[in-house]
Amino acid sequence: MNNFQYYNPVRIVFGDNQIKQLSDLVPTDARVLITYGGGSAQRTGTLDEVKDALSANGNRDVFEFGGIEANPEFTTLLKAADMVNENNIDFLLAVGGGSVIDGSKFIALVSSLTEEDGTVSREQAWDALTSGCKKIDSAITLGTVLTIPATGSEMNSGGVINYSERQAKLPFGSALTYPKFSILDPTKTLTLPERQVMNGVADAFVHVMEQYLTYPVNAKVQDSFAESLLKILIEEGAAVKANPDNLETRKNLMWTATMALNGLIGTGVPQDWTTHMIGHELTSLHAIDHARTLTIVLPSVMRELKDSKKDKLLQYARNVWNISDNGQDDDAIIETAIAYTENFFRELGLPVSLEDVDLDRSAIEPIVKQLEAHKMVKLGEHGNNDLDVSRRILERAI
Ligand code: NZQ
Ligand code: ZN
Repeated sequence: MNNFQYYNPVRIVFGDNQIKQLSDLVPTDARVLITYGGGSAQRTGTLDEVKDALSANGNRDVFEFGGIEANPEFTTLLKAADMVNENNIDFLLAVGGGSVIDGSKFIALVSSLTEEDGTVSREQAWDALTSGCKKIDSAITLGTVLTIPATGSEMNSGGVINYSERQAKLPFGSALTYPKFSILDPTKTLTLPERQVMNGVADAFVHVMEQYLTYPVNAKVQDSFAESLLKILIEEGAAVKANPDNLETRKNLMWTATMALNGLIGTGVPQDWTTHMIGHELTSLHAIDHARTLTIVLPSVMRELKDSKKDKLLQYARNVWNISDNGQDDDAIIETAIAYTENFFRELGLPVSLEDVDLDRSAIEPIVKQLEAHKMVKLGEHGNNDLDVSRRILERAI
C-alpha cells in the first residue's frame, strides 16, 4: 500500500425525513443562497421542504438561484456568483444532484474573483477552472441536500464544469469545497426517472473501477471495499430496475454511490481516470449523459489496457463476478469479465458502444483533438495513455 493522508470533514445526515435538520445545520443568522437545477426540486416539493426547515428557527435571509443545468454551465454559475456578491451571501445550500452540487462548489470558489465593478471576472474564473481552482484561497461555506445518488460530490471536494462556448468540460478540486454537511434522504430519489437512476448506478460503478482497476499494491481494505461496492451495485442495479419503489434498495444505492467517491477506496492506491477524461469529451462534443459516456468507454479501456491491468482484471473476474478458471487461460477469463460488465450495463439500458449512441468512426478524431487541447495526453496509472492509446480505446468502442 502507498503512503497516504486521509481527511474527510463532511457530516452525513442520512435517512428519511431528515431535511428538517437544516434548521440546526445552517447557522441561524446566515444569508443563504439555495441553488437548484431545472425544476425537479420545485416539482417534487423538496425545495419547499428546505425553505420550511430554514425558517423553522433563527433569522436567516434566504435567496434562490434555479436553473443550473445537468452538466453545469460556466456562464450560468457566474450569474449565481454575482448574486452571491450582490446579496452578501455567506452560505450556499445546493439542492440537487452532482450538477447542482459541483456548480455550487464552483460558485463558492469563484465569487471572490471580482472585477472593479464588483462582477465576477469571466477571464479569472476561466483561468481558475483551467488550473483546477488550485490557487483560490477562500470559498463560501456550502451544504447540500442530495436528490440523486451518483457522483459522490456530496462527500468529496471536486467538481466538473461545462463551458459549451469553449467545448470544454473540466474537473477542479479544492479542500475548501468539502460540503459542511450533506443530507441524504433516500425517499427523495423515488421521483427520479429510470434513466437517471441507471445513470447513477453506472457512474458509481465506474468511480469504483477507476480507483480499483490499476495494479495490485496489496491494499486489502481498499480492494475489498471496492469489490463489495461493485457487487452491491450489480445486485441493487438489477433490483431497482425490477422494483423501483423498494426503499431499502434506494437506501443501499444512495450510500454506495457516496462511498464510491468519498476518497476512502482511493487512498493509498494508484488510480486511473482515463474513462472519465475521455467521457468528458464525449459529453462536451455530443451532449451525452455523463454516465453513458462511461459505459461506452470503460469496456474498451479494459480491453486496450488488459496487459498492464492484467492482475487486477483477473482479481476483478474472480472476486466480483465469481468467474472460476475451469481450465481457461487468463485472456479468456478477462474477456468473460469484460463481457459480464457490458451485459450488466446493457441490462440497465445503458449504451456500451459509440454505435449505441449513433456515433461512428468519424467521431473519434475530434475527441482526440479535444483531449489534446485539454492536455489529457498522459492518462492512466502510469501516465502512459497518450493520444494514440486514447484513439485505440475509441476505435475499440465503435
Ligand atoms: O435539473 P433538475 O430539474 O433538478 O433535474 C435533474 C437532472 O435533469 C434530475 N433530478 C435530480 N434529482 C431528481 C431529479 N429528477 C427527479 N427527482 C429527483 N429527485 O436528474 C437529472 C440529472 O441530474 P445531475 O445532477 O446532472 O446528475 P448527476 O448527479 O448524475 O450529476 C452529473 C454531473 O456530475 C459530474 C458529472 O460530470 C456531471 O456533470 N460528476 C461529478 C463528480 C464529483 N463532483 O465528484 C464525479 C463524477 O464523475 C461526475 O463527473
Ligand atoms: Zn463520474
